[in-house]
This record gives sequence, structure tokens and C-alpha cells, in this order.
Amino acid sequence: MKDIYILAIESSCDETAAAVVKNGREVLSNVIYSQIALHTEYGGVVPEIASRKHIEKINQVIRAALDEAEMTLDDVDAIAVTYGPGLVGSLLVGVAAAKSIAFAKDKPLVGVHHIEGHISANYIQDVTLEPPFGCLIVSGGHTHLVEVKDYGEYVVHGRTRDDAAGEAFDKVARAIGLGYPGGPKVDKLAKEGDCEAYSFPRAVVADSPYDFSFSGLKSAVLNLVNQAKMKEEELNKADIAASFQAAVVEVLVSHSMLMCENYGYKTFALAGGVASNSAIRAAFDKACKERDIKLVYPDPILCTDNAAMIGAAGYYEYLKGVRMGYDLNAVPNLKLGDI
Ligand code: KG4
Ligand code: ZN
Repeated sequence: MKDIYILAIESSCDETAAAVVKNGREVLSNVIYSQIALHTEYGGVVPEIASRKHIEKINQVIRAALDEAEMTLDDVDAIAVTYGPGLVGSLLVGVAAAKSIAFAKDKPLVGVHHIEGHISANYIQDVTLEPPFGCLIVSGGHTHLVEVKDYGEYVVHGRTRDDAAGEAFDKVARAIGLGYPGGPKVDKLAKEGDCEAYSFPRAVVADSPYDFSFSGLKSAVLNLVNQAKMKEEELNKADIAASFQAAVVEVLVSHSMLMCENYGYKTFALAGGVASNSAIRAAFDKACKERDIKLVYPDPILCTDNAAMIGAAGYYEYLKGVRMGYDLNAVPNLKLGDI
């Protein structure tokens, strides 16, 4: 079969990214311009600033991805782009760039669901990985438990009812003064803390064994911090980080393992920015080993937003014959079931 080269573009939140991926599995380049430093002083992503920066950077990032792959636009077989979910102004920049290239070079245009991209990072990580498998997606905006039935075919078994796991990490980090983005900072500080110092709630959702709820946990941490402030008591931040993280880990692992048990998955994958958390990785390593389940998780650079994962997902959409018109629009609230 002829080799297929995909030029992929991702701009759904605060990373401007482009990549060239060969046959959905081999990364020839993966260029990421992170805007994190710009948003840090505001304590979170400012959508208006994000879109403006995407416009400034998108052409440079695409150029760099092609150069690094030693390719020109004429050499690629298709253009894949994230069209949702995400921030509308951010998504539009990537979508407009992809449409322009597809039109100018008369190349097929493939729209990719951002979460499908996160899941597909695992195809790059483990070139032998094939569906079906179970997957936990934990990112800044999403927490989903799904079955990957086939390439591009998903059954959602569980999702969060309120905050996403990453959102909870970021809010707790802010409450204990760690700043944005909080996930990696909580991860680091938790290593110095006692995870049994505080007993935070492990929420279960009635009648939905695979759904998550993190708002109660988040409120418990915020209440603790506020009460301590009022009483002018010093709190051990490392203990809070460790105890909070332990509560998140326990719920993620128990729900995921229950799904594997009930549906008989022999392979399980982690995806999304929060999947680079060291405690989550260690807990899944242990739980999957005990159950003889093969576990896959992407390297941290493939967990957080990047375009290589969009190239992997885009390749399988391309093979299925998915083609978008020049009227492709950004869909900020695209659902996983809409893939
Ligand atoms: O997947 P991602 O890059 O963007 C979205 O699609 O949302 O995920 C970003 C999220 C942020 O909430 C960030 O705090 C979290 O991933 N994150 C982590 C870690 N690294 C990133 N959370 C916990 N531990 C980490 N090591
Ligand atoms: Zn993401």
C-alpha cells in the first residue's frame, strides 16, 4: 500500500500545533507552540488572547512542521484539522488555515474530533495497538470512559457529571496557591506529601457506575483551605495535594477497572493531559498488572495537546473516506458520540 502522509493542525485551546504523520503511526515532526506563559498571569486561558496568538503563530508552526519532516505541501496526501470541541475563536484559526491549504493545493480535508485525537496518541505510542480496547480520557475539559470499538468508532460508557479531572486539578492548584496550569504542579508537590493526611470524598454517581463527579471533592478542598484562612491556620500544601490526588486516582482506577471487568477488555489505554500524571500512571500500572490487562499510555508530550495525535486520528478518518467541504466550521461543543 502507498504511504500516506498527513499534515495535521491543532489549535483548539492554548497550543498552536502542526505535525506530519506517516501512515497514522510514525511522527515525522510534531511542532508545538505553547501559549501557557502568556495565560499564566491571568490564572487560566483567556480565549481572546489565545485566538490572537494562534493567528500570529499558525503559519510559522505549519512551516516548521513541514521543514522538520523535510516535506513540502505538495508531498502530503491530506490535511487533518481539529474542528471541535474547544474554544471557538481558537478552533477557527486552525480550521481556516487547513481549509486554505486544502483549497490552494487541492488536497483532501479531514476534520478531526479533539478527543479522538487524544485517544489516537496511543496508536503512535504503541504501533501494535489495535481496537477494541477500553480507554479513559482525562483532560482539562473532558473525563470519559469509552470503548474504542474500531478505528473512529466509540461507545461512551461514562463521563463526568460536572468538572473534568483536569479542571479539578487546576482549581485545587489555584486554591493552594500553585498557579496555572495546576496539574503538573499538584503532581510534583504531591510527591512530598502524605496522601492519607486528609480524607477527601470519593464520589460515586447513583445508578451510573462509570460516571464521575469531581465537584464535591473540589469543594471539600476549597472549604478546608477557606476555613484554615479564617482561623489563620497554616496548612500543609503538599499533604493537601497528595490527598486530593489520591482521591482522584482512586475513583479513576476503580471505575476503569470495573468497566474492564464488566466488558472484558484485555487492553486499556489512557489519554489526555491528565494522563501524564505520575500517580495516575503508577496506579494504573499496578491495577492492570494485577488483572493481566495490557496498559498503554502516551509519552507526556503526546498526552497534552499536540498535532501528531490529530494526524493519527486523521489518518484513520482519511482511510474511511471522511472528507470535509470548504464549509467546514468550528464546532465548540462537538460531542464524542458525534464522531
Ligand atoms: O489534554 P490537555 O492538554 O488539554 C485539554 O484538551 O483539555 O489537558 C490539559 C489538562 C490541564 O488541566 C492540566 O492541568 C492537566 O491536563 N495536566 C495534568 C498534568 N499535566 C497536565 N494534571 C495532572 N497531572 C499532570 N502531570
Ligand atoms: Zn486536549
